Amino acid sequence: MTRVLSVASECAPLVKTGGLADVAGAMPAALAGQGVEMRSLLPGYPTVMAALEEATPVAAIGSLFGGPARLLGARAAGLEVLVIDAPHLFDRAGGPYLDPEGQDWPDNADRFAALARVAADIAAGRLGDWQPDLVHCHDWQAGLVPYYLRRENTGVPSVLTIHNIAFQGLTPMERAADLGIAAADLDKDGVEYWGQLSMLKAGLVFADRLTTVSPTYAEELMRPAFGMGLDGVLRARRADLRGILNGIDLAAWSPGTDPHVRSYKTPRGKPANRAALRAELGLPDAPGPLCVVVSRLTEQKGLDLLLEALPRLLDRGGQLALLGSGEPALEAAFAGLDEANVAVRIGYDEALSHRMIAGGDAILVPSRFEPCGLTQLYGLRYGTLPLVALTGGLADTVIPATPATLARQVATGLQFHPIDAEALGNALSTLCDLFAAPDLWSRMQRNAMAHPVGWGPSAAAYAALYADLTGET
Ligand code: ADP
Ligand code: GLC
Repeated sequence: MTRVLSVASECAPLVKTGGLADVAGAMPAALAGQGVEMRSLLPGYPTVMAALEEATPVAAIGSLFGGPARLLGARAAGLEVLVIDAPHLFDRAGGPYLDPEGQDWPDNADRFAALARVAADIAAGRLGDWQPDLVHCHDWQAGLVPYYLRRENTGVPSVLTIHNIAFQGLTPMERAADLGIAAADLDKDGVEYWGQLSMLKAGLVFADRLTTVSPTYAEELMRPAFGMGLDGVLRARRADLRGILNGIDLAAWSPGTDPHVRSYKTPRGKPANRAALRAELGLPDAPGPLCVVVSRLTEQKGLDLLLEALPRLLDRGGQLALLGSGEPALEAAFAGLDEANVAVRIGYDEALSHRMIAGGDAILVPSRFEPCGLTQLYGLRYGTLPLVALTGGLADTVIPATPATLARQVATGLQFHPIDAEALGNALSTLCDLFAAPDLWSRMQRNAMAHPVGWGPSAAAYAALYADLTGET
């Protein structure tokens, strides 16, 4: 049994702003079948504290970045969790990273350095008696863990997974001493990023292995166009970097068992869900495909391209239903669409996201970059054909309809490239053509629903990586 401490700032269903939470929440169960005992260290946000069952104090922490704290051990939503109960850092209204006005919390560097500090202390055996053989860190919020483990000579190996290189955990260099970073490590071979301190870079430099969430993104990250200034660091670590595709939690996302939808196991169950969704959203019947989007509304997701290309869908009798929240300008642009065949819901709504994915004919993911992407995987599982940009994990998970793939009856969706409004519009037009050919469409739906999207091979890949690092076979 390999013991792994997972360190992430989100974990579904306890706290979620995006796909990181789904992945961190699903991995422990996925890895359990591979002989891995995984415990998840989490900040004690209000929603996390409220969900704890049988919480027991593991250790008192006298002072943690400005106040006293405790480490608790508990179960929560079926997970074994270790939680940092530090009210001065985590007991706040608002999100994990943003205050109620949508601004970054000013002390984010301290809050996540605290997460890393506690992780390293657990790994070193300084807090409680459970000690992991290895620490698996996710994104910049856990970026200082590999640094502390290495510099404190703990001998405990670490893996850092990059879910999104756009978020780098930048803070002024002057904070280095407070964060426990030695002066000798502040140069460009250490944590320095264009004059600032990057907590992500600390992880990229000091972790024993690096992974990201799809093979294509692993390659993209080493190129200037995608590496966001860290491509050189990743090229230098090419031998230690690999892409392991995310899976989805089939217990939560399967149309046959999903409590939020009218259960179905074949595409024949979709029209009832589509009719219910139209009724819920006030959309009329339509001759074209009902396209859905469930997304953060940010530059990354390319939804401004959809605004531009939308007439190509609507002119063909198609419809759009969008659920999302994020940048105010994008929220306003979508909310302002005055079209009978468009329904927009601004906000975050887990249950509605399931109904939209079950009720849609197609799901649109026009991202400019996408490390993995989960909603296209949900779409496959629900026979909701993904129309995606050709990038990152979207390239690795969708088999695009081409004359060849249609002839071989393997196509599961559509991909477009270059990532611009014209190519997206052309793909929307092709989508309408395919939708108008019911035999082709239902063949693609069946292909999509049969496409493997669970954790199986990826859980095995992580287990092999852990075994490699801990010397266990
Ligand atoms: P990212 O992590 O970049 O946001 P992913 O596709 O990996 O993208 O994961 C997004 C996750 O967040 C999915 O589980 C998706 O269903 C969910 N999600 C995004 N926006 C919303 C929303 N407005 N309401 C409900 N769920 C959402
Ligand atoms: C990030 C990426 C997304 C990925 C998710 C989970 O938020 O933007 O592509 O699916 O992490 O790994």
